[in-house]
Amino acid sequence: MPVPPSASRPAYPGDDVKRKRLHRILFVDGPNLNVLGEREPALYGRRTLADLRKTVSEAARREGASVEFFQSNHEGEIVEALQGARRKADGLVINPAAYTHTSVAIRDALLYCGVPAVEVHLSNPAKREGFRKVSLVEDVVVGRICGFGGYGYVLALLALLDHLRQEGDRGPG
Ligand code: DQA
Repeated sequence: MPVPPSASRPAYPGDDVKRKRLHRILFVDGPNLNVLGEREPALYGRRTLADLRKTVSEAARREGASVEFFQSNHEGEIVEALQGARRKADGLVINPAAYTHTSVAIRDALLYCGVPAVEVHLSNPAKREGFRKVSLVEDVVVGRICGFGGYGYVLALLALLDHLRQEGDRGPG
């Protein structure tokens, strides 16, 4: 006699597996990163921001994450993007570019946003001019990735997803 579907049995295959929502990651790039590829190529390379975004999107697809991108040359617009990401993004990857070294407003917006963030730089600011050795956001991010060129954006994504998964495993509180 066929066994009737029981209440404890999933109606559809996989229904017993707790479905995981895709992590939503926002990439925020600051001033002059829109001209990547043309800008000081000996330092920042020949790849454009569009090239980096394509590589990041491919990595995100492999990892099962969703990514969005924002770039602005204006401090206030970056602040607004970070404010808007509160409760909408699960994590941030941010290259504040020159604002890294000057912007209390971006630091404050990161704190307001309240989601885990990774700071990324194409170059290694620690090997450059003295004023680049200061980061006003380094102590409000989970970690920093510097000096690996565009690949640093992929590393930042992977590190952030690993961090979010570990946070998820630990659960609230
Ligand atoms: C940068 C480093 C900053 O010092 C500089 O102002 C940038 C790019 C980087 O990615 O290496 O614009 O953030």
